[in-house]
Amino acid sequence: MKIDGKPYRSIWHDAAGTVQIIDQRWLPHELRIVPLQSRAEFAVAIRDMWVRGAPLIGAAAAWGMAVQMEHDASDASLAETWQVLHETRPTAINLRWALNEMRSLLTPLPPSQRAAAARRRAIEICDEDVEINRRIGENGLAIIRQIAARKNGRVNILTHCNAGWLATVDWGTATSPIYHALAAGIDVHVFVDETRPRNQGAQLTAWEMNHHGVSHDLIVDNAGGHLMQHGEVDMVIVGTDRTTSQGDVCNKIGTYLKALAAHANGVPFYVALPSPTIDWTVKDGVKEIPIEERTGAEVTHVQGRDAQGKVGLVQISPDGTPARNPAFDVTPAHLVTGLITERGVCSANTTAMAAMFPDLQG
Ligand code: MRU
Repeated sequence: MKIDGKPYRSIWHDAAGTVQIIDQRWLPHELRIVPLQSRAEFAVAIRDMWVRGAPLIGAAAAWGMAVQMEHDASDASLAETWQVLHETRPTAINLRWALNEMRSLLTPLPPSQRAAAARRRAIEICDEDVEINRRIGENGLAIIRQIAARKNGRVNILTHCNAGWLATVDWGTATSPIYHALAAGIDVHVFVDETRPRNQGAQLTAWEMNHHGVSHDLIVDNAGGHLMQHGEVDMVIVGTDRTTSQGDVCNKIGTYLKALAAHANGVPFYVALPSPTIDWTVKDGVKEIPIEERTGAEVTHVQGRDAQGKVGLVQISPDGTPARNPAFDVTPAHLVTGLITERGVCSANTTAMAAMFPDLQG
C-alpha cells in the first residue's frame, strides 16, 4: 500500500539486500524504518512487536532464518535459529509455519547452498503473502457487494485490532476486502476498535484508514455491542492469529466479545483467514491454543504523544496496581459466519475447511 503516494510493504529488502521494516512501535506518530541484520535483531523485533500481526511475524521469522544462514549455515545453527525465533511469540501459528517451511527446505541442502536458498524462500513467502491477501480481498469484496446491493447504500464494517497491511506484508487480511471495496466504488465505513491494551486499532488501523482515504470512526472497545444493537454495523471482519481445523478462531483479545455481540444481534461475523494461519494439528481452540500473557505494564500504562510532540508512556492506574494481560482470545466456530480465505469463503467447521483445503491437512 502507499504512504504519501509512495508504495511500501511492511518488510522488504533494499538494493543492498538488507532487510528493512517499519518499526510499528512508533506509529502513528513517527514513521521509522529500521534494518534488521542479525538473528538477535529479528528475535527482538518480533518479541517486542516492532513487527506484529500473524502473517508479518511469519515473514519476519523467514527472513531471520535467511539472514542467520548468511552468518552460519550449519545444522546446529539451523536448529538453534528455529528455536530462538519460535520462542519469540507463542500464539500466532504463522511463526511456526514459516520456520517449518524454511527448515524443511534447508535441512536436505548442503550448508554451502543454504543461504541463497533461504533468501529465495523468504522472498517467496513475502510474495505469497501479498497474493494470498489480494485474493482474500477479492473474495471478501463479493460479500461486501452483496450487502451493499441489499442495503442499497453504505456498508458499515466493524474491525478489531490491526489486521491491515501493517500486520501482513501487504494488503492486510481483514482490510483487504475493505480496500478492494473502496477501489470498486462501494461506500464503506469502518468502525475501528481501539483495541486495548496496545491500541493497535487506534494507532495502526486508524493510521491506515487515514492514509487510504477510508471513511472511519475510532470507537472504544466497549462501543461495538451498542452500535450493533442499534443496527449501525452491517458486518464484522477480523483477522486471526491461529484458526483450528474445526474453525475456532484465535485473535486479539476482545474479538470473542465482539463475536458474542454480533451473534446476539444477527450481525454477520467474518474472519479473514490466510491458509498459513490454519493450525491443522489442533481442533479445540479454547483448550489447545497457547495464549500469550504479556506484561501488566501494558494495561497500567498507555502510549501517546504529548503537546510537545514527545512520544511516551502515561500511567493510568494507581502505583503498583496488579494487572492481567492475556493478549488473545478464542472465538468458537459456531459464532463465525464465514472464513474468507484465498480460495473462497467457507463455513467454520471441519468438513467445510477440509473441502476447501484438501491438500493442506495433516
Ligand atoms: O499482538 P498483535 O498485534 O501481533 O496481534 C495481531 C492480531 O491479533 C491480528 O488481528 C492478527 O494477527 C491478524 S493479522 C492479519
